[in-house]
Amino acid sequence: MQEPVFKVRGVSKAFNEHVVLDNIDLDIYSGEIIGIIGASGAGKTTFLNTLIGFLRPDKGDIQFRLNHLLAYKNSYIYRSVFKKQSLVKQVYGFASQVPSFYDDLTTKENLEYFGLLYNLSRDAIKSNAETLLNLMDLKDASNTLAKNLSGGMERRLDIACALMHDPDVLILDEPTADLDPMLRNHIWQLVRKINQKGTTIILSSHHLSELEALCNRVAIIKDSKILAVGKPEEIKKQFMVEKEIILQTNPGDYKKIVKELSKKDISRIRISNHTLHIHSSKPEHVMLDVMTTLKKSKEDLTFINVTSASLDDVFISIWEDKEE
Ligand SMILES: Nc1ncnc2c1ncn2[C@@H]1O[C@H](COP(=O)(O)OP(=O)(O)OP(=O)(O)O)[C@@H](O)[C@H]1O
Ligand SMILES: [Mg+2]
Repeated sequence: MQEPVFKVRGVSKAFNEHVVLDNIDLDIYSGEIIGIIGASGAGKTTFLNTLIGFLRPDKGDIQFRLNHLLAYKNSYIYRSVFKKQSLVKQVYGFASQVPSFYDDLTTKENLEYFGLLYNLSRDAIKSNAETLLNLMDLKDASNTLAKNLSGGMERRLDIACALMHDPDVLILDEPTADLDPMLRNHIWQLVRKINQKGTTIILSSHHLSELEALCNRVAIIKDSKILAVGKPEEIKKQFMVEKEIILQTNPGDYKKIVKELSKKDISRIRISNHTLHIHSSKPEHVMLDVMTTLKKSKEDLTFINVTSASLDDVFISIWEDKEE
């Protein structure tokens, strides 16, 4: 495997007594799209803010590789993000959960303003703004005041502002929150396009099934730790080698059915929305038992389906385990 561009080592962060990150280790590689997954309050924003050096951890360090900068192109020299904030700003682009553009500036003026903040030359500002207006489908809204943009356009403008200095790494904290599925899809397509230009992308989102198709790797934060990190396929294998049998019956006394089932070859059962979910790596064996049980319990089968687990299933099963 190539050398990482970021090495997160033993990072811990607490707010008052509340430990949000506990001894986090993570390597991030050049050119990848990595998704940070976690329930609300799990610490995704805290992690991203620490990664960029906005928040200081109580313990640990985050090192970034200097080969992003021309002078160090072929080197393997690392520096702490907390010690080299001026270099970090050249390397990172960050679109936070809260928009950072100015309402009373137009789309184009916002981009120009961010260009000034990044000390870009007049020529660079002009050409980068033009490129981003095209890339982010904002050309027609160039002269629209930011406060009059639609939700999807706002999000695109925010990402465009973070890209004005052409950073090697783009960090997006929930870039699709509050957007409808079509607009989310549009953002993901743009993210893919940006990544194809060579930008490493680190993002957080609740839309796991969408991340599954987008990310090279995902890291799951739970109970202040990184519970798992890997390709979506690997994560699914790690947490769910099984198939999920979903069934509905009439009259639907699922508690009784669960009690009657032999539980052989069943790794997990849950009742949700008047539906029975059974996880098993041998669904064909379990089905026989289910049918016998339904007959014995005088339950009529009204719906049955067998599916492979999605990343959403993994997410639900991980967080439901906590609540049990
Ligand atoms: N500055 C702060 N002071 C005190 N507590 C904080 C601060 N920032 C975050 N927290 C707490 O740390 C925990 C993690 O918050 P964080 O915003 O990182 O979660 P998140 O995973 O990004 O959640 P969401 O999906 O809702 O955005 C929460 O319990 C939050 O209340
Ligand atoms: Mg957050």
